[in-house]
Amino acid sequence: MVEHLRRPGWAEVEEYLSTTLVRGGDAMDAVISSIDAAGMPRIEVAPTAGKLLMLLARIQGARRVLEIGTLAGFSTIWLARALPHGGHLTTCEFLPEHAAVARKNIDAAGVGALVDIRVGPALDTLRTLEGGEPYDFVFIDADKGNDTNYLRCALALTRPGSVIVMDNVVWEGAILDPGDDPDAAAIRSALDFMGASDALDATAIQTAGSKGWDGFAIAVVR
Ligand code: DHB
Ligand code: MG
Repeated sequence: MVEHLRRPGWAEVEEYLSTTLVRGGDAMDAVISSIDAAGMPRIEVAPTAGKLLMLLARIQGARRVLEIGTLAGFSTIWLARALPHGGHLTTCEFLPEHAAVARKNIDAAGVGALVDIRVGPALDTLRTLEGGEPYDFVFIDADKGNDTNYLRCALALTRPGSVIVMDNVVWEGAILDPGDDPDAAAIRSALDFMGASDALDATAIQTAGSKGWDGFAIAVVR
């Protein structure tokens, strides 16, 4: 095969896949604009990953979704789009400023009636949810130092057959050599917890693209 002068990279292929397959629509473009306008970090999931979350929730038949880490609501809207009539999504956001941006985006996307944003430390919010109806699907994407705590909470708030997805489990490969990065060490501990837990059947997929080299862990509660 003749060598190409220039090979396309992960991010260009992701752009093609997003345009061709994902097609998130104007609501998703508006979320990105709002993140830039508010000076928030561009750490939302990639469009391909957002739609993966929607598809996983739909495949699972989720009616009740819990998200830990709202940011501007990008993944929230994708997940809300998976919900059937009468479904519900609870999302936890630490910063009131981010929650305000998310509220606008989620309402503008037409899924506002399904989504409850809880502002404050997620561990406090999660404690208040105990004893309620179990969640069918949990997406963990917040401060990485609490990943293991969030997994423990997720186990307390779900049922056998529920799905738990955790973002950022590869962290540019730093999980294998955390050095002085406490987030990398915490992510590694959370993966170790997942693997050792008799209550979870877990795997992970690595991703490469606009968000660099990262990945998702996916688990089913036993
Ligand atoms: C960061 C957080 C995320 O959830 C993510 O997907 C990417 C980066 C961060 O805190 O740097
Ligand atoms: Mg993330």
